[in-house]
Amino acid sequence: MRTIVVNNQKGGVGKTTVAVHLAWFLAEEGYSRVLFIDLDAQGNASSVLSDERQAGLSSGLFIDPNFSVTGEAGINVLAADEKLNIIDPQMAVAVPAMAKAFAKLGAEFDYCVIDTPPAWGARNYAALLVTDFVLSPIDLESFALQGVATLRKQIRLVEEQGRKGRKVGFLGLLPSRFVSNSPRQRENLKALVTQAGTSLMFEGVLTQRQGYAEAVAVKTPVWKLKKTSAQEAGREARSVLTTVKSRMAAPIVA
Ligand SMILES: Nc1ncnc2c1ncn2[C@@H]1O[C@H](COP(=O)(O)OP(=O)(O)OP(=O)(O)O)[C@@H](O)[C@H]1O
Ligand SMILES: [Mg+2]
Repeated sequence: MRTIVVNNQKGGVGKTTVAVHLAWFLAEEGYSRVLFIDLDAQGNASSVLSDERQAGLSSGLFIDPNFSVTGEAGINVLAADEKLNIIDPQMAVAVPAMAKAFAKLGAEFDYCVIDTPPAWGARNYAALLVTDFVLSPIDLESFALQGVATLRKQIRLVEEQGRKGRKVGFLGLLPSRFVSNSPRQRENLKALVTQAGTSLMFEGVLTQRQGYAEAVAVKTPVWKLKKTSAQEAGREARSVLTTVKSRMAAPIVA
């Protein structure tokens, strides 16, 4: 199983939109068994994926010692519930329990996509602890750039403390909701590339387009909507997701 966490502690940057589209994309091809874990108690991704196979509650990973899931072709959802909010105070026990429960899922699935909440805490720590890859959507409004250093620091913290130095495969910062005709956003993108360096940037962007919200509202990938604007968004999304998938196929550095 190859695991990817969609992560940025900043809210509203497109994490859930990217995560659900990635799950749809991975499940579309062949008979992939995709596990989707919603760690955000807001449950946005769980609502969008409510027509997919419901495989349990993600809080079970942290608090149920007998947690298990069998994998089926398509998307298998571990949905968010309010118990996710009580994990932080029990972090010292809940995080190792999650890592143990998660390790048992490896044989059941081909891919795992984890959507994370917009706040640092036990769930983000656990997700970074167990993952192979991280993708970080980022918006290009003024304060977004300040978050990049924090994001990198948190990944490093988990690598050093939790992973005994084992690196996370950082796929990059993915500019999301990019308004390409906004001079301010173009300036911010330039500043971001200068600050982060090209090696930290994902090779592609997701433009701000109406189609994404419409698609998510009807629980369908944007490339399946008929409107011309959605088709354009769909082409862009598929191109980004094709790159994500091929990067996930690369050998994992131990
Ligand atoms: N490429 C895009 N074009 C237009 N709208 C977008 C795009 N990506 C996301 N959005 C919209 O932006 C809002 C926030 O997106 P989303 O919920 O995916 O962000 P998030 O990072 O998961 O937020 P949170 O931190 O609250 O979990 C939603 O209304 C979504 O429809
Ligand atoms: Mg979200």
